[in-house]
Amino acid sequence: MSVNISIKNAVKKYGDNTVIPDLSIDIRDKEFFTLLGPSGCGKTTLLRMIAGFNTIEGGDFFFNEKRINNLEASKRNIGMVFQNYAIFPHYTVRQNVEFGLKNRNLPKERVKSEADEFLKLMQILEFENRMPELLSGGQQQRVALARALVIKPDVLLMDEPLSNLDAKLRMEMRQAIRNLQKEVGITTVYVTHDQEEAMAISDRIAVMKDGVIQHVGTPQEVYHRPANIFVATFIGRTNLIDAEYSSSEKIVRMGGYEFGMNNLSCKTDSSVVLSIRPEDFQILKDVTEGIKSTVIDSVFLGLNTHYFITLPNKQTVEIIHESVMGNNLKSGDTVYLNIKVDKINVFSKDGNRNLIHEY
Ligand SMILES: Nc1ncnc2c1ncn2[C@@H]1O[C@H](COP(=O)(O)OP(=O)(O)OP(=O)(O)O)[C@@H](O)[C@H]1O
Ligand SMILES: [Mg+2]
Repeated sequence: MSVNISIKNAVKKYGDNTVIPDLSIDIRDKEFFTLLGPSGCGKTTLLRMIAGFNTIEGGDFFFNEKRINNLEASKRNIGMVFQNYAIFPHYTVRQNVEFGLKNRNLPKERVKSEADEFLKLMQILEFENRMPELLSGGQQQRVALARALVIKPDVLLMDEPLSNLDAKLRMEMRQAIRNLQKEVGITTVYVTHDQEEAMAISDRIAVMKDGVIQHVGTPQEVYHRPANIFVATFIGRTNLIDAEYSSSEKIVRMGGYEFGMNNLSCKTDSSVVLSIRPEDFQILKDVTEGIKSTVIDSVFLGLNTHYFITLPNKQTVEIIHESVMGNNLKSGDTVYLNIKVDKINVFSKDGNRNLIHEY
Protein backbone atom coordinates (compact mmCIF):
# COMPACT_ATOMS: atom_id res chain seq x y z
CA MET A 1 0.00 0.00 0.00
CA SER A 2 1.11 3.50 -0.66
CA VAL A 3 -0.32 6.60 0.95
CA ASN A 4 -0.73 10.31 0.59
CA ILE A 5 0.59 12.39 3.46
CA SER A 6 -1.38 15.39 4.56
CA ILE A 7 0.02 17.87 7.05
CA LYS A 8 -2.26 20.59 8.37
CA ASN A 9 -1.03 23.57 10.39
CA ALA A 10 1.94 21.77 11.91
CA VAL A 11 3.76 23.53 14.76
CA LYS A 12 7.13 22.53 16.19
CA LYS A 13 8.73 24.11 19.21
CA TYR A 14 11.93 23.23 21.02
CA GLY A 15 11.26 24.82 24.40
CA ASP A 16 10.43 28.46 23.69
CA ASN A 17 11.97 28.31 20.25
CA THR A 18 9.37 27.89 17.51
CA VAL A 19 11.09 26.35 14.49
CA ILE A 20 7.95 25.53 12.48
CA PRO A 21 5.22 28.12 13.09
CA ASP A 22 2.38 26.86 10.84
CA LEU A 23 3.08 24.47 8.01
CA SER A 24 0.66 22.68 5.69
CA ILE A 25 1.44 20.41 2.74
CA ASP A 26 -0.12 17.55 0.82
CA ILE A 27 2.19 14.89 -0.53
CA ARG A 28 0.58 12.68 -3.13
CA ASP A 29 0.45 8.93 -3.36
CA LYS A 30 3.68 7.57 -4.93
CA GLU A 31 5.11 11.06 -5.26
CA PHE A 32 8.82 11.85 -4.91
CA PHE A 33 8.56 14.94 -2.75
CA THR A 34 11.61 16.92 -1.65
CA LEU A 35 12.08 19.36 1.21
CA LEU A 36 14.75 21.80 0.13
CA GLY A 37 16.16 24.67 2.14
CA PRO A 38 19.23 26.11 3.84
CA SER A 39 20.78 24.61 6.94
CA GLY A 40 18.62 25.06 10.03
CA CYS A 41 15.34 25.76 8.18
CA GLY A 42 13.60 22.76 9.75
CA LYS A 43 13.81 19.98 7.13
CA THR A 44 15.02 17.25 9.49
CA THR A 45 12.63 18.46 12.15
CA LEU A 46 9.65 18.05 9.81
CA LEU A 47 10.84 14.66 8.57
CA ARG A 48 11.17 13.43 12.16
CA MET A 49 7.65 14.64 12.92
CA ILE A 50 6.37 12.53 10.00
CA ALA A 51 8.42 9.57 11.24
CA GLY A 52 7.20 9.89 14.82
CA PHE A 53 10.58 10.71 16.35
CA ASN A 54 9.63 14.27 17.32
CA THR A 55 6.82 15.60 19.43
CA ILE A 56 4.21 17.64 17.58
CA GLU A 57 3.22 20.91 19.25
CA GLY A 58 0.28 21.65 16.98
CA GLY A 59 -1.60 20.63 13.85
CA ASP A 60 -2.55 17.28 12.32
CA PHE A 61 -0.60 14.66 10.39
CA PHE A 62 -2.49 12.17 8.21
CA PHE A 63 -1.52 9.07 6.21
CA ASN A 64 -4.56 8.89 3.91
CA GLU A 65 -7.51 9.51 6.26
CA LYS A 66 -5.72 8.16 9.31
CA ARG A 67 -4.50 10.73 11.81
CA ILE A 68 -1.07 9.61 12.98
CA ASN A 69 -0.14 12.27 15.55
CA ASN A 70 -0.35 9.77 18.39
CA LEU A 71 0.70 6.66 16.50
CA GLU A 72 4.01 5.22 17.69
CA ALA A 73 6.91 5.49 15.26
CA SER A 74 7.19 1.69 14.99
CA LYS A 75 3.53 1.44 13.92
CA ARG A 76 3.75 3.98 11.07
CA ASN A 77 5.26 1.48 8.63
CA ILE A 78 7.99 3.82 7.49
CA GLY A 79 11.35 3.11 5.84
CA MET A 80 14.11 5.57 6.70
CA VAL A 81 17.51 6.29 5.21
CA PHE A 82 19.88 8.76 6.81
CA GLN A 83 23.02 10.59 5.88
CA ASN A 84 25.27 8.26 7.88
CA TYR A 85 23.79 5.03 6.47
CA ALA A 86 22.91 3.67 9.93
CA ILE A 87 23.45 0.07 8.95
CA PHE A 88 24.55 -2.41 11.60
CA PRO A 89 28.36 -2.70 11.46
CA HIS A 90 28.44 -6.17 13.07
CA TYR A 91 25.99 -7.69 10.56
CA THR A 92 26.78 -8.82 7.02
CA VAL A 93 25.06 -7.13 4.10
CA ARG A 94 22.46 -9.91 3.94
CA GLN A 95 21.85 -9.85 7.69
CA ASN A 96 21.31 -6.09 7.50
CA VAL A 97 18.75 -6.45 4.73
CA GLU A 98 17.00 -9.37 6.44
CA PHE A 99 16.84 -7.62 9.80
CA GLY A 100 13.41 -5.98 9.41
CA LEU A 101 11.90 -9.14 7.91
CA LYS A 102 13.12 -11.34 10.76
CA ASN A 103 11.74 -8.80 13.21
CA ARG A 104 8.33 -9.42 11.69
CA ASN A 105 8.67 -13.14 12.33
CA LEU A 106 8.24 -14.07 8.67
CA PRO A 107 8.98 -17.69 7.69
CA LYS A 108 12.63 -18.35 6.82
CA GLU A 109 11.99 -18.96 3.14
CA ARG A 110 10.15 -15.67 2.74
CA VAL A 111 12.86 -13.76 4.57
CA LYS A 112 15.38 -15.13 2.09
CA SER A 113 13.35 -14.58 -1.07
CA GLU A 114 12.31 -11.04 -0.17
CA ALA A 115 15.83 -10.07 0.86
CA ASP A 116 17.09 -11.57 -2.43
CA GLU A 117 14.73 -9.33 -4.37
CA PHE A 118 16.15 -6.15 -2.86
CA LEU A 119 19.76 -7.34 -2.82
CA LYS A 120 19.39 -7.84 -6.58
CA LEU A 121 17.49 -4.62 -7.16
CA MET A 122 20.20 -2.61 -5.38
CA GLN A 123 22.97 -4.65 -7.05
CA ILE A 124 24.55 -5.76 -3.80
CA LEU A 125 23.85 -9.49 -3.98
CA GLU A 126 27.50 -10.14 -4.79
CA PHE A 127 28.47 -8.54 -1.46
CA GLU A 128 25.86 -10.40 0.58
CA ASN A 129 28.39 -11.97 2.95
CA ARG A 130 30.61 -8.93 3.41
CA MET A 131 30.75 -6.79 6.50
CA PRO A 132 29.77 -3.13 5.93
CA GLU A 133 33.25 -1.79 6.71
CA LEU A 134 34.50 -3.53 3.56
CA LEU A 135 32.06 -1.65 1.35
CA SER A 136 32.39 1.75 -0.32
CA GLY A 137 30.12 4.61 0.77
CA GLY A 138 27.83 4.11 -2.21
CA GLN A 139 27.56 0.38 -1.57
CA GLN A 140 26.76 1.01 2.09
CA GLN A 141 24.09 3.45 1.10
CA ARG A 142 22.54 0.85 -1.21
CA VAL A 143 22.44 -1.56 1.73
CA ALA A 144 20.66 1.11 3.76
CA LEU A 145 18.14 1.59 0.94
CA ALA A 146 17.55 -2.13 0.53
CA ARG A 147 17.08 -2.47 4.26
CA ALA A 148 14.58 0.39 4.34
CA LEU A 149 12.55 -0.88 1.38
CA VAL A 150 12.52 -4.62 2.03
CA ILE A 151 9.84 -4.25 4.70
CA LYS A 152 7.51 -2.74 2.07
CA PRO A 153 6.94 0.50 3.96
CA ASP A 154 4.02 2.78 3.13
CA VAL A 155 6.32 5.79 3.17
CA LEU A 156 10.04 6.21 2.53
CA LEU A 157 11.80 9.05 4.34
CA MET A 158 15.33 10.05 3.38
CA ASP A 159 17.44 12.70 5.10
CA GLU A 160 20.40 13.83 2.98
CA PRO A 161 21.24 10.23 2.06
CA LEU A 162 23.88 11.21 -0.48
CA SER A 163 25.74 13.97 1.30
CA ASN A 164 28.63 11.72 2.40
CA LEU A 165 29.35 10.52 -1.13
CA ASP A 166 31.69 12.06 -3.66
CA ALA A 167 30.19 14.04 -6.54
CA LYS A 168 30.27 11.30 -9.17
CA LEU A 169 28.76 8.67 -6.91
CA ARG A 170 26.12 11.15 -5.77
CA MET A 171 24.94 11.55 -9.35
CA GLU A 172 24.83 7.79 -9.90
CA MET A 173 23.02 7.15 -6.64
CA ARG A 174 20.43 9.83 -7.18
CA GLN A 175 19.49 8.23 -10.47
CA ALA A 176 19.40 4.81 -8.79
CA ILE A 177 17.16 6.16 -6.02
CA ARG A 178 14.81 7.77 -8.47
CA ASN A 179 14.52 4.63 -10.62
CA LEU A 180 13.98 2.49 -7.56
CA GLN A 181 11.33 4.80 -6.17
CA LYS A 182 9.39 4.69 -9.43
CA GLU A 183 9.78 0.94 -9.71
CA VAL A 184 8.60 0.26 -6.17
CA GLY A 185 6.01 3.05 -6.35
CA ILE A 186 6.31 4.44 -2.86
CA THR A 187 5.45 7.85 -1.45
CA THR A 188 8.81 9.40 -0.67
CA VAL A 189 9.86 12.46 1.30
CA TYR A 190 13.43 13.39 0.59
CA VAL A 191 15.49 16.04 2.37
CA THR A 192 18.38 17.88 0.82
CA HIS A 193 19.97 21.31 0.79
CA ASP A 194 21.41 20.66 -2.67
CA GLN A 195 19.17 22.37 -5.22
CA GLU A 196 20.56 20.54 -8.21
CA GLU A 197 19.95 17.19 -6.53
CA ALA A 198 16.41 18.28 -5.67
CA MET A 199 15.68 19.25 -9.27
CA ALA A 200 17.14 16.05 -10.67
CA ILE A 201 15.28 13.66 -8.42
CA SER A 202 11.89 15.16 -7.48
CA ASP A 203 8.36 15.16 -8.80
CA ARG A 204 7.73 18.22 -6.64
CA ILE A 205 9.87 20.38 -4.37
CA ALA A 206 8.91 22.37 -1.29
CA VAL A 207 11.38 25.21 -0.74
CA MET A 208 11.61 26.06 2.97
CA LYS A 209 13.03 28.98 4.90
CA ASP A 210 12.81 29.47 8.67
CA GLY A 211 10.24 26.69 9.02
CA VAL A 212 7.96 28.25 6.43
CA ILE A 213 7.27 26.78 3.00
CA GLN A 214 8.00 29.41 0.38
CA HIS A 215 6.95 27.52 -2.74
CA VAL A 216 5.71 24.06 -3.69
CA GLY A 217 5.94 23.03 -7.32
CA THR A 218 7.59 20.88 -9.95
CA PRO A 219 11.30 21.55 -10.54
CA GLN A 220 10.32 23.46 -13.69
CA GLU A 221 7.78 25.60 -11.87
CA VAL A 222 10.08 26.61 -9.03
CA TYR A 223 12.90 27.32 -11.48
CA HIS A 224 10.94 29.26 -14.10
CA ARG A 225 8.32 30.96 -11.92
CA PRO A 226 9.70 31.16 -8.38
CA ALA A 227 7.20 32.49 -5.82
CA ASN A 228 9.55 35.07 -4.35
CA ILE A 229 13.14 36.32 -4.48
CA PHE A 230 14.33 33.82 -1.87
CA VAL A 231 13.22 30.93 -4.11
CA ALA A 232 14.61 32.60 -7.25
CA THR A 233 18.04 32.91 -5.69
CA PHE A 234 18.05 29.59 -3.84
CA ILE A 235 17.21 27.56 -6.94
CA GLY A 236 19.76 28.16 -9.66
CA ARG A 237 21.59 31.42 -10.24
CA THR A 238 19.97 34.68 -11.10
CA ASN A 239 20.61 38.39 -11.56
CA LEU A 240 18.46 40.80 -9.54
CA ILE A 241 17.99 44.17 -11.18
CA ASP A 242 16.07 47.17 -9.86
CA ALA A 243 13.48 48.53 -12.30
CA GLU A 244 10.36 50.69 -12.51
CA TYR A 245 6.98 49.52 -13.76
CA SER A 246 4.54 51.88 -15.43
CA SER A 247 1.06 50.43 -15.06
CA SER A 248 -0.57 52.71 -17.65
CA GLU A 249 1.98 51.86 -20.36
CA LYS A 250 2.60 48.28 -19.15
CA ILE A 251 6.29 48.95 -19.53
CA VAL A 252 9.25 48.03 -17.35
CA ARG A 253 12.18 50.48 -17.36
CA MET A 254 15.62 49.35 -16.37
CA GLY A 255 18.35 51.98 -16.66
CA GLY A 256 17.93 53.41 -20.16
CA TYR A 257 16.31 50.27 -21.48
CA GLU A 258 12.60 49.42 -21.52
CA PHE A 259 10.36 46.59 -22.58
CA GLY A 260 6.67 45.80 -22.58
CA MET A 261 5.24 43.42 -20.00
CA ASN A 262 1.51 42.95 -20.10
CA ASN A 263 1.33 39.98 -17.77
CA LEU A 264 1.91 41.70 -14.42
CA SER A 265 -0.72 41.69 -11.70
CA CYS A 266 0.43 45.13 -10.57
CA LYS A 267 -2.21 47.88 -10.68
CA THR A 268 -0.08 50.90 -9.84
CA ASP A 269 3.26 52.34 -10.90
CA SER A 270 5.87 50.68 -8.72
CA SER A 271 9.50 49.98 -8.09
CA VAL A 272 10.10 46.31 -8.82
CA VAL A 273 12.97 43.83 -8.87
CA LEU A 274 13.65 41.80 -11.99
CA SER A 275 15.12 38.34 -11.76
CA ILE A 276 16.91 37.36 -14.96
CA ARG A 277 18.77 34.07 -15.12
CA PRO A 278 22.27 34.11 -16.64
CA GLU A 279 21.13 32.04 -19.63
CA ASP A 280 18.25 34.39 -20.41
CA PHE A 281 20.49 37.14 -21.73
CA GLN A 282 21.60 36.87 -25.32
CA ILE A 283 24.85 38.42 -26.44
CA LEU A 284 24.09 39.80 -29.90
CA LYS A 285 26.64 39.61 -32.66
CA ASP A 286 27.34 42.23 -35.33
CA VAL A 287 24.52 44.55 -34.30
CA THR A 288 24.35 47.82 -32.46
CA GLU A 289 20.91 47.53 -30.92
CA GLY A 290 19.93 46.09 -27.59
CA ILE A 291 21.44 46.97 -24.24
CA LYS A 292 24.87 48.48 -24.78
CA SER A 293 27.10 46.94 -22.11
CA THR A 294 30.73 46.33 -21.21
CA VAL A 295 32.48 43.04 -20.61
CA ILE A 296 34.33 43.00 -17.28
CA ASP A 297 35.53 39.44 -16.99
CA SER A 298 34.93 35.93 -18.23
CA VAL A 299 35.34 32.46 -16.80
CA PHE A 300 35.70 29.52 -19.17
CA LEU A 301 34.04 26.37 -17.84
CA GLY A 302 34.20 24.09 -20.87
CA LEU A 303 30.69 23.77 -22.27
CA ASN A 304 29.81 27.30 -21.15
CA THR A 305 31.60 30.55 -20.49
CA HIS A 306 30.38 32.84 -17.71
CA TYR A 307 30.68 36.52 -18.53
CA PHE A 308 30.48 39.39 -16.09
CA ILE A 309 29.03 42.33 -17.95
CA THR A 310 28.16 45.82 -16.77
CA LEU A 311 24.81 47.24 -17.88
CA PRO A 312 24.18 50.96 -18.59
CA ASN A 313 22.77 51.32 -15.04
CA LYS A 314 26.28 50.31 -13.81
CA GLN A 315 25.04 47.01 -12.45
CA THR A 316 27.16 43.97 -13.31
CA VAL A 317 25.30 40.82 -14.33
CA GLU A 318 26.43 37.27 -14.90
CA ILE A 319 25.66 35.86 -18.31
CA ILE A 320 26.17 32.26 -19.36
CA HIS A 321 26.91 31.63 -23.00
CA GLU A 322 27.91 28.49 -24.82
CA SER A 323 31.67 28.56 -25.32
CA VAL A 324 32.93 29.14 -28.85
CA MET A 325 36.34 28.32 -30.27
CA GLY A 326 38.49 31.42 -30.52
CA ASN A 327 36.82 34.79 -30.91
CA ASN A 328 36.06 35.10 -27.19
CA LEU A 329 34.96 38.34 -25.63
CA LYS A 330 37.61 40.17 -23.67
CA SER A 331 37.48 42.48 -20.75
CA GLY A 332 36.66 46.00 -21.98
CA ASP A 333 34.74 44.83 -25.09
CA THR A 334 31.44 46.52 -25.84
CA VAL A 335 28.54 44.14 -26.44
CA TYR A 336 24.83 44.45 -27.12
CA LEU A 337 22.46 42.35 -25.09
CA ASN A 338 18.96 41.07 -25.58
CA ILE A 339 16.78 39.60 -22.84
CA LYS A 340 14.30 36.76 -23.26
CA VAL A 341 11.43 38.78 -21.86
CA ASP A 342 9.05 35.86 -21.33
CA LYS A 343 11.62 34.28 -19.00
CA ILE A 344 11.94 37.33 -16.75
CA ASN A 345 10.37 37.25 -13.30
CA VAL A 346 9.23 40.48 -11.71
CA PHE A 347 9.04 40.75 -7.94
CA SER A 348 7.61 43.34 -5.59
CA LYS A 349 10.29 45.61 -4.16
CA ASP A 350 10.32 43.70 -0.86
CA GLY A 351 10.94 40.47 -2.78
CA ASN A 352 7.98 38.67 -1.25
CA ARG A 353 5.74 38.38 -4.27
CA ASN A 354 6.08 37.36 -7.91
CA LEU A 355 4.05 39.89 -9.90
CA ILE A 356 3.76 37.77 -13.05
CA HIS A 357 0.05 37.38 -13.63
CA GLU A 358 -0.17 33.59 -13.65
CA TYR A 359 0.59 33.77 -9.93
N1 LIG B 1 16.75 18.61 19.44
C1 LIG B 1 16.73 19.93 19.25
N2 LIG B 1 16.65 20.79 20.28
C2 LIG B 1 16.61 22.12 20.10
N3 LIG B 1 16.67 22.72 18.90
C3 LIG B 1 16.76 21.93 17.83
C4 LIG B 1 16.80 20.50 17.93
N4 LIG B 1 16.88 19.98 16.68
C5 LIG B 1 16.90 21.02 15.85
N5 LIG B 1 16.81 22.20 16.52
C6 LIG B 1 16.78 23.55 15.92
O1 LIG B 1 15.70 23.59 15.00
C7 LIG B 1 16.06 24.28 13.81
C8 LIG B 1 15.83 23.38 12.62
O2 LIG B 1 16.77 22.31 12.67
P1 LIG B 1 16.79 21.14 11.61
O3 LIG B 1 17.76 20.14 12.09
O4 LIG B 1 15.40 20.67 11.37
O5 LIG B 1 17.33 21.90 10.32
P2 LIG B 1 17.69 21.31 8.87
O6 LIG B 1 16.88 22.09 7.91
O7 LIG B 1 17.55 19.84 8.88
O8 LIG B 1 19.22 21.74 8.72
P3 LIG B 1 20.48 20.97 8.06
O9 LIG B 1 20.39 21.23 6.57
O10 LIG B 1 21.65 21.64 8.66
O11 LIG B 1 20.37 19.50 8.42
C9 LIG B 1 17.49 24.73 13.99
O12 LIG B 1 17.48 26.07 14.41
C10 LIG B 1 18.00 23.83 15.08
O13 LIG B 1 19.00 24.46 15.83
MG1 LIG C 1 18.91 18.24 8.64
